[in-house]
Amino acid sequence: MKKNIVVIEGDGIGPEVTRQSIKVLNAIAEQYGHDFNYSYHLMGADAIDKTGSPLPDETIEAALNSDAILFGAIGHPKYDNDPTAKVRPEQGLLKLRKSLQLFANIRPVSTYASLHHLSPLKTKNIEDVDFVIYRELTGGIYFGKKELNAEQTIASDECTYTREEIERITHLAFKQALQRRKKLTLVDKANVLETSRLWRKVVQEIAGLYPEVAVDFLFVDNAAMQIILNPKQFDVVLTENMFGDIISDEASVISGSLGLLPSASIGHGSALFEPIHGSYPQAAGKDIANPLGSILSAAMMLDHFGLLKEAAIIREAVNWTLQNGFVTKDIDPVNFYFTTTIGELISDYVGNKFPGDINKANIELRKSTII
Ligand code: IPM
Ligand code: MN
Repeated sequence: MKKNIVVIEGDGIGPEVTRQSIKVLNAIAEQYGHDFNYSYHLMGADAIDKTGSPLPDETIEAALNSDAILFGAIGHPKYDNDPTAKVRPEQGLLKLRKSLQLFANIRPVSTYASLHHLSPLKTKNIEDVDFVIYRELTGGIYFGKKELNAEQTIASDECTYTREEIERITHLAFKQALQRRKKLTLVDKANVLETSRLWRKVVQEIAGLYPEVAVDFLFVDNAAMQIILNPKQFDVVLTENMFGDIISDEASVISGSLGLLPSASIGHGSALFEPIHGSYPQAAGKDIANPLGSILSAAMMLDHFGLLKEAAIIREAVNWTLQNGFVTKDIDPVNFYFTTTIGELISDYVGNKFPGDINKANIELRKSTII
């Protein structure tokens, strides 16, 4: 299979984690006879530094013409504490989502037995957690009218949803539920917000078309609590843009490290794949960031291409590294392996070099000596 992939390494640890995914994708291409072409483009603080714009037009153009986009991370501390900054890195990502109409952001949350001890939650509550968040990504308060009066004393952000925006992601979420445990939870704030009442109405109507799926409704404040108290109850969680942003970060800690979680943002054309972690500037350039969120995002990209077997082998390789203690510093601060080493181990595994002729001694050499 031939695919054109736009790579946006982005900011902070974005470049170093994305490079591990490229290694793994190259190993897949070689092993299974695919042809992945990469073209590199700018977005975020990196793009502002180099071009003045957080999303140059040529990046949008390339993304529109690609089969998929692999993205690293966005954000730089110099903008975070400056609310007056006119240009912000994040504007690049928001504009790309809108330009490509990436209306559904899919964030799977699962746990790994070998990492249970890292979770802030009790092991008995997180065994076999496996749910997926469907977050609406191109509407709501993120994209509504924003105003600040001349005196700079009153600000507003409008939250608008159309029936059509709700319907298209709701259908995707129901279809996903049919492939899974057939449960869908809508998270909203229908006791207060008009937009949430529209979400509830539309979801109730569409539920009639999917009678096999059990549907329930949770207010977002309660959902935030339930995700911590009993995450096993969830299968497919459907929600609007900002609630999805917040609960997906919350859910990400269940697994023990934010560095593990992948995501896909899909629309009608090219789709975008990125780890859910941010740019983690403190770790940039140190070869200590966890590349698994990016590598698992690359696996989601392969699933999206219909390359299910290839995606499955990447997940198997990831499980193999975790089970054997080949982990980065976020997971084991004392006995850790470098970002690049994890990328090599996973690409070696995918390339069929492990576990048959595993040479632990060689891997030990690639381990960190900084303790
Ligand atoms: C995310 C991020 C973005 C968002 C930021 C970087 C604009 O937090 O993808 O979750 O809020 O959507
Ligand atoms: Mn977020």
